Formats: sequence, C-alpha cells, structure tokens
Amino acid sequence: MPQIAPHPALAGRSVLSLMNHPADAVREVLDLADQLKADPEWPQALAGRSIALIFEQPSTRTRVSFEVGIARLGGHPVVLAGRDMQLGRGETIEDTAKVLSRFVDAIVIRTVDHAKVVALAEHADVPVINALTHDHHPCQGLADVMTIRERFGGPAGVRAAYVGDGNNCCHSLMVAGALMGMEVVAGCPDGYLPDPDVVERADAIARERGGRVWVVTDPREAVDGAKAVYTDVWVSMGDEDQEAERLRVFAPYRVDEALMDAAAPDAVALHPLPAHDGLEITRSVYHGPRSAVWDEAENRLHVQAALLMHILG
Ligand code: CP
Ligand code: NVA
Repeated sequence: MPQIAPHPALAGRSVLSLMNHPADAVREVLDLADQLKADPEWPQALAGRSIALIFEQPSTRTRVSFEVGIARLGGHPVVLAGRDMQLGRGETIEDTAKVLSRFVDAIVIRTVDHAKVVALAEHADVPVINALTHDHHPCQGLADVMTIRERFGGPAGVRAAYVGDGNNCCHSLMVAGALMGMEVVAGCPDGYLPDPDVVERADAIARERGGRVWVVTDPREAVDGAKAVYTDVWVSMGDEDQEAERLRVFAPYRVDEALMDAAAPDAVALHPLPAHDGLEITRSVYHGPRSAVWDEAENRLHVQAALLMHILG
C-alpha cells in the first residue's frame, strides 16, 4: 500500500498553477500517482478529512475523479454547485473562504475567473486546489505529464506539441512539462497564443532541466518530431460568445490523421476531453490506435489522489 512523507512544498499548501512549486515535489506526486495506479489497495490517508469541491462550471472528469479519489482515500467529499451556494447570490469569496475553512480540510474549486481562486486561497485557512480556471488547469497538466511519462519514460527530453487555442490546458501542459524537463511547443494562431508571461516562465523552468518551451504559428511545424500531439476545445468555458470567430480561425489547427502522420512515428494523441469530433480533433484519432486520451482521463484520478496525499496526508 503506497505511503509517503508529504513534500514540504505541498504539505498544507494551495495549488493554483504549479508555477511556484519545485520540480521535485511534482516528481514525487507523479511517482506516487504511478504507485496508486498499480496498487488497488489505497491507504486511508484522508480518514476523518472533509474536502469541499465547488463547481461553478460543468465537469465530468474533474468532479468524478476528485469525488471517487477522496472516498477511496477514506475522506469525505462535499460537492457543491456554485449556483446552489450563497456565493451564487452574492456572498463574497472572502466570507465563503473563512466559513468553509471552519468546516473542511481543503477546498477544490472550478470557476472561470483565476483571480477568484487566488482570492479564495488568500482568505482560506485551508489549502485550495484549482480544478480549472480560464488561465490554468494544473490537475490536467499533471495527468498529461503522467500519461506522457507512462508512454515514453523520461519525460525529460520528450517533446510534446500543443495545437490550437493557447488556453488553460496549454499553459498547464507547458508548466508541468517544463518542471519535468520536457520540450513543449505550442502551435497556435496569432491572437490566440498562450500568455507570453507563462511561456517565458515555463521556458526558464524547462531550460534549467535541459528542456525548452516555445511557440510557433504553424501546426505542422509544431508537431514535427513530437511524441505527444495535444489539443483542446476551441471554445473554452467563458469563451462561448466568440464561438463563430473561433471555429473559423482554428479550422487549420484540427488534429486529424494527416497531422498525426506529421509527428513522430510513435506519437500519441492527447486531449483533456470533452472532445468535439471534426472540430479540434477527429474521432478517428481520439478513438484510434494512436489515442492516449482514455489513459489521460483515468490518470486524473491517480494524480489528484497523490496530490491530496501530499497536501493533507
Ligand atoms: N478534462 C476535464 O477537466 O474534464 P471535465 O471538464 O469533465 O472535468
Ligand atoms: N479549455 C477547456 C478545458 C475543459 C476541460 C475549458 O476551459 O473549457
């Protein structure tokens, strides 16, 4: 049964973007996640602990993987829909943070506005985990890197190409990959490039470990030599009013069989899901032999359980 000493950079700490966490802490989370995946007998590391899961936006994978993972570790997940909370009627994030801290041992939150999660962490007396904002999706980034490591080892030196919208999943892949010394290249259209500050910081982190993070605008150039070809939705939660323009701009960035053929011969396709057949990816790719998306989704369970063990164990 996997046991650990919580990493000091994670014990009792919030995880909002991974940008301020050391590489060895992330590596320990990935190592523990591998052990949890291999061993069906999980420790009761969260016995007697309650964790609030606040969802202000829809979720399938994040909600179920956190809820099931917490229960398997002996803890009690308290799932809250934002609209059913007083938060949805105007109670401040500060007051919500103070009150929830009296009841629960950690707060997991999904909301569009990243500043709201930062404020929640500032005012809460318990650790806060970002379960997706418009800017970052760190739990997804951890699962992505875990999946790449499973397939190709390393992952230092392995190249991943992100194709499409330079969004939250792109940022978190860059940061998690950088911490592991990967090469991460984003191929995105002008106007939809990843945040230059995130790219710069991720590149600095990667270079310390022999990796690199950079941006191009040509999808074929991005995937050249890549072992993992990653895409995500073209219209993220919060971007719905730009749908028509986005579908037009991103059309040349679809991950189809031809784009997969331009990557490394053993390349896998990754997608955080939910996917849209014929838009950012074709069904033949993500349901086909080069797909790793189902492992990637499963790995959310293991990596988040490992993260919670380090934060609360
Ligand atoms: N990948 C991901 O976060 O999925 P959900 O939106 O279903 O949680
Ligand atoms: N970029 C997407 C990810 C969904 C898991 C969004 O923010 O909606």
